[in-house]
Amino acid sequence: MSVHSEARRISVPQLMAYKGQKKIAALTAYGAPFARLLDDVLDMILIGDSTAMVAYGLPNTLSITADQLAAHAAAVVRSTSHACIIVDMPFGSYQESPQQAFSNAARVLAISGADGIKLEGGVALADTTRFLVDRGIPVLAHVGLMPQYVNTMGGFKAQGMNDESAERILEDALAHEKAGAFGVVLEGVAEALGRRITESLGIPSIGIGASPACDGQILVTEDILGLSGSRIPKFARQYSDVGAVIRSAVEHYAADVRNGTFPALENCFGVKRPETPQ
Ligand code: KIV
Repeated sequence: MSVHSEARRISVPQLMAYKGQKKIAALTAYGAPFARLLDDVLDMILIGDSTAMVAYGLPNTLSITADQLAAHAAAVVRSTSHACIIVDMPFGSYQESPQQAFSNAARVLAISGADGIKLEGGVALADTTRFLVDRGIPVLAHVGLMPQYVNTMGGFKAQGMNDESAERILEDALAHEKAGAFGVVLEGVAEALGRRITESLGIPSIGIGASPACDGQILVTEDILGLSGSRIPKFARQYSDVGAVIRSAVEHYAADVRNGTFPALENCFGVKRPETPQ
């Protein structure tokens, strides 16, 4: 076995060591172009099951498969060398049993080369986290607003808004920490709860619509770039209007095609350049 000395991407234990030292900056990516642009700026890139909605235009995250996410994750891994790459386990690929979770997670990691997986679920899924971690699969748990539970929650609604639900979400996060999760995504929870969970955990919390106190933050890249149409969630911040830039470039191109100025001779093969006079 050879030992490589080249710089390695950020590992799961390195991310864990950021707790209390450095905030984790994370975003989603679904393919090579964005992954290349995000890689050296971020600590973690997630191939979320939001791929279903953002890349495939589906109404929710429920109908993407493990093989689809594995293919997207493989593209992201191939295009990056710095950030830690985590891939979501989609709905139906892990809830049946810890064994089902292991075989699907192992396949997704083998196909993609990602560093770990994320799964949604509370206390009931902690045994699955334990089963995976004991067998070498790093797990990022996702609690609070869990989009895979959209049908039981009756929509995408903020969670932990009363004492009972806040206590349950705290217990969910603690159960996954005890089971060996390397971090917990806290989505769509009351700010005070995000803060309390972060202070109660010895592992990093990564917030999305949670609290500035979280150990890191994650958003959907398209939401911060103005590529999500008119619907920008309250918890996101749009940093740029890349959509407008793309639209203007496309309009320019279409006009050039229609008025015959594209392609120019410099874009064509077998055309001799005129001699430049001495
Ligand atoms: O699917 C997803 O993109 C997520 C978020 C945490 C961003 O789960």
